[in-house]
Amino acid sequence: THQWRGIIEEYRDRLPVSDTTQVVSLREGGTPLVPAQVLSERTGCEVHLKVEGANPTGSFKDRGMTMAITRAKEEGAKAVICASTGNTSASAAAYAVRAGMVCAVLVPQGKIALGKMGQALVHGAKILQVDGNFDDCLTLARNLSDNYPVALVNSVNPVRIEGQKTAAFEIVDMLGDAPDIHVLPVGNAGNITAYWKGYTEYAADKVAARTPRMWGFQASGSAPIVRGEVVKDPSTIATAIRIGNPASWQYALAARDESGGFIDEVTDREILRAYRLLAAQEGVFVEPASAASVAGLLKAAEQGKVDPGQRIVCTVTGNGLKDPDWAVAGAPQPVTVPVDAATAAERLGLA
Ligand code: F0G
Repeated sequence: THQWRGIIEEYRDRLPVSDTTQVVSLREGGTPLVPAQVLSERTGCEVHLKVEGANPTGSFKDRGMTMAITRAKEEGAKAVICASTGNTSASAAAYAVRAGMVCAVLVPQGKIALGKMGQALVHGAKILQVDGNFDDCLTLARNLSDNYPVALVNSVNPVRIEGQKTAAFEIVDMLGDAPDIHVLPVGNAGNITAYWKGYTEYAADKVAARTPRMWGFQASGSAPIVRGEVVKDPSTIATAIRIGNPASWQYALAARDESGGFIDEVTDREILRAYRLLAAQEGVFVEPASAASVAGLLKAAEQGKVDPGQRIVCTVTGNGLKDPDWAVAGAPQPVTVPVDAATAAERLGLA
């Protein structure tokens, strides 16, 4: 009886639904806000991780998708479509099942993690691998939704942003106020837009006394906002944020400027270092793109941009199980032993 009801039921008065709206939910949201001990020590701050990999399909996308699918169903859609680097499509596929809808998915060929492909497949989505990048997929998805009977559920659909803003509400509800700084990975820039909307709404209604500075981090090979120009052939090992022309670019700039924050880049090496630190020292297994927030915080700290004593929240956007290749790569192969205690003890360094 005390189960978290999902973001629409929990925040119904702050979301674009009516009393009669039938909610399509997998009880998303209500994710852990985990104190990060090692990151706090390194920065001299109080650092928390908002662990979005704990959502039903393993990423923050479920917050936006419960809204998008709820509204699509309400409007009578029979089919939905999205472009994706893998998480949006996994989420759309699952929520479409709940709503009894057909789900079409466009992904960049060869550039999505296996776990995410598996999710779309097992939920029964119709998947097309596009011979192009994410930006090409989004152009194609918009075109199809403009010209055929299929509803677009990418974050260019404003109700997606509405759902995703609830993560900011949860953080304020937990901490009693907004943090000093909020750190996010940035790909298509929907999430930084959504958090900023959530924080500003709570501040306007005096639920929070302040808003945080928004710090966003793109991967170096896919950093159009940092460079100030479209990246034609984006690259990074963090495939979730391999995006060269973010749809919410202007909103991300607004979030940055209105909050007094910044958007910077982190290299793949810095991303992988943060990815390993999170798993090995904080006990939180995230996918590489998610580690961009933490990589960015560590970079900023090394540059002397982080004054001690602040309260900082880093969102880690997706579950590490979606893309385990980087956990296994470079790690030593486990040794094989016979069923023998003495040998096992010796190999484990216990004897
Ligand atoms: N982290 C993860 C794990 C993501 O999947 C994404 C975006 C982001 C961060 C960036 O968020 O786009 O709102 O700035 N993934 C999209 C997708 C593009 O298709 O799943 P953003």
